Amino acid sequence: MRRPTEVDAENSIMDTTAEADFVVVSNRLPVDRSGDDEWRRSPGGLVAALEPMIQSTGGAWVGWPGQPGIEVEPFEFDGMRLVPVTLSTDDVELFYEGFSNDTIWPLYHDVISPPAYHREWWDAYVRVNERFARAAAAVAAPDATVWVHDYQLQLVPRLLRELRPDVVIGYFHHIPFPAYGIYAQLPWRTQVLEGLLGADVIGFQRVADAGNFARAVRRRLGFETKAGSIRVPTADGGVRTAIAKAYPISIDAAAYDELARRPDVQARAREIRESLGDPKTVLFGVDRLDYTKGIGHRLKAYGELLREHRLDVTDVTLVQVASPSRERVAAYMQLRDEIELTVGRINGDHDTVGHTAIRYLHHAYPREEMVALYLAADVMLVTALRDGMNLVAKEYVASRIDGWGVLVLSEFTGAADELTQAVRVNPHDIDGLKDAIVTAIDMPVTEQRRRMRALRRRVRDHDVADWSRSFLHDLTAVREARDSDGTDGTEDAEGTEDTRA
Ligand code: G6P
Repeated sequence: MRRPTEVDAENSIMDTTAEADFVVVSNRLPVDRSGDDEWRRSPGGLVAALEPMIQSTGGAWVGWPGQPGIEVEPFEFDGMRLVPVTLSTDDVELFYEGFSNDTIWPLYHDVISPPAYHREWWDAYVRVNERFARAAAAVAAPDATVWVHDYQLQLVPRLLRELRPDVVIGYFHHIPFPAYGIYAQLPWRTQVLEGLLGADVIGFQRVADAGNFARAVRRRLGFETKAGSIRVPTADGGVRTAIAKAYPISIDAAAYDELARRPDVQARAREIRESLGDPKTVLFGVDRLDYTKGIGHRLKAYGELLREHRLDVTDVTLVQVASPSRERVAAYMQLRDEIELTVGRINGDHDTVGHTAIRYLHHAYPREEMVALYLAADVMLVTALRDGMNLVAKEYVASRIDGWGVLVLSEFTGAADELTQAVRVNPHDIDGLKDAIVTAIDMPVTEQRRRMRALRRRVRDHDVADWSRSFLHDLTAVREARDSDGTDGTEDAEGTEDTRA
């Protein structure tokens, strides 16, 4: 932790004005500024995955410090050079809450909530993307590698390529990319595709997302696509190849495993169960309080099971952690009201003085507490209606060092492609969801162990370091191809075979 005033270039051991060979660009910096004005590392796998690479290359991370109007000079934090991009109060409202989280987010999650299209939001999105691109262009060394992240910054790859044709650009899309029939609603659908195609490698969570993107490119722009390569015409009449491929993100599995082995974390897990009145079964859900997560569907299924006496409140408790998120966006305010009304009703109907149906917690918790909760949970409920990956599912598995516990997993998550030994559910099918919850509660321990063994193997063998390695491997291949043919990666338009799929 450091105070911003302590981190000016003079005091810092690192030259925060030097150019960097490896640059990460994401909407948020990997640190938050707390009330006491100190920087704290944000939780999350992305930091864990990229930090070693940034530290060893003297790299930089460009991003927003998370609050409106903060103007801070680049500073050093734990061996990483952080380059803050300022967002004004207006930018936060129009670019972040507006276009990013009330247009793109609902549209890309299959319009679970209706997206709003406002031209002034789009203008702010362009303006802020330009600011991020300029910041990245300023910090990148000649021929640097720049890795741009997520839907808030879809225009940055092209803008950056225009400013700095020498750099190799990767983009990773952490959320779903929708089918063309949905994507086509976006009034700026062409500009967004062109923005993304500025990257040399465009990564997605699932094969289906990469396919949806390639189809949108064919339908809107008429470019040729084949087996993950897209032929992108260049301004000088040539053509270059962009790769669009799935790289499923993961977690720092070893860190969860290690925490779960700590005696204090295990003691905390026991304490949690005791404080819940030692029920036979603890069900657990943890999500950002977001309408994509299917929290309402989960509560409906659980409430009906209690009402129909298929479950009894003296035997079962659901712990639901809902971490506060995007609280100034109307759809999120409404969701919070709906969820809290539902929780209140279910508890009012079924609680006894000594037992609660749902222990609802509107907080975010440190990783230690999360792992204790995972260890305390017999059944993990992940019922998202649409989710790019869902890392909670992987965190649960990585924490279950005891080798049992059941994961109920929505088939609409990226994680479902990999975690095939979970109990799969369609959260829209409330009867199916109810049956799945009962199946999970009643599952014999031998069956739990068999499934958990396979799940743990998958998460251990494909961790977040593996994810960043495979993405950067493909990005390095682009650099090597450029270096070896002595060009900027483009070729003559003539002589390209017709690969239109
Ligand atoms: C998702 C997105 C991230 C985002 C995170 C938290 O995981 O893919 O880009 O940072 O949600 O949302 P927030 O709006 O608080 O950054």
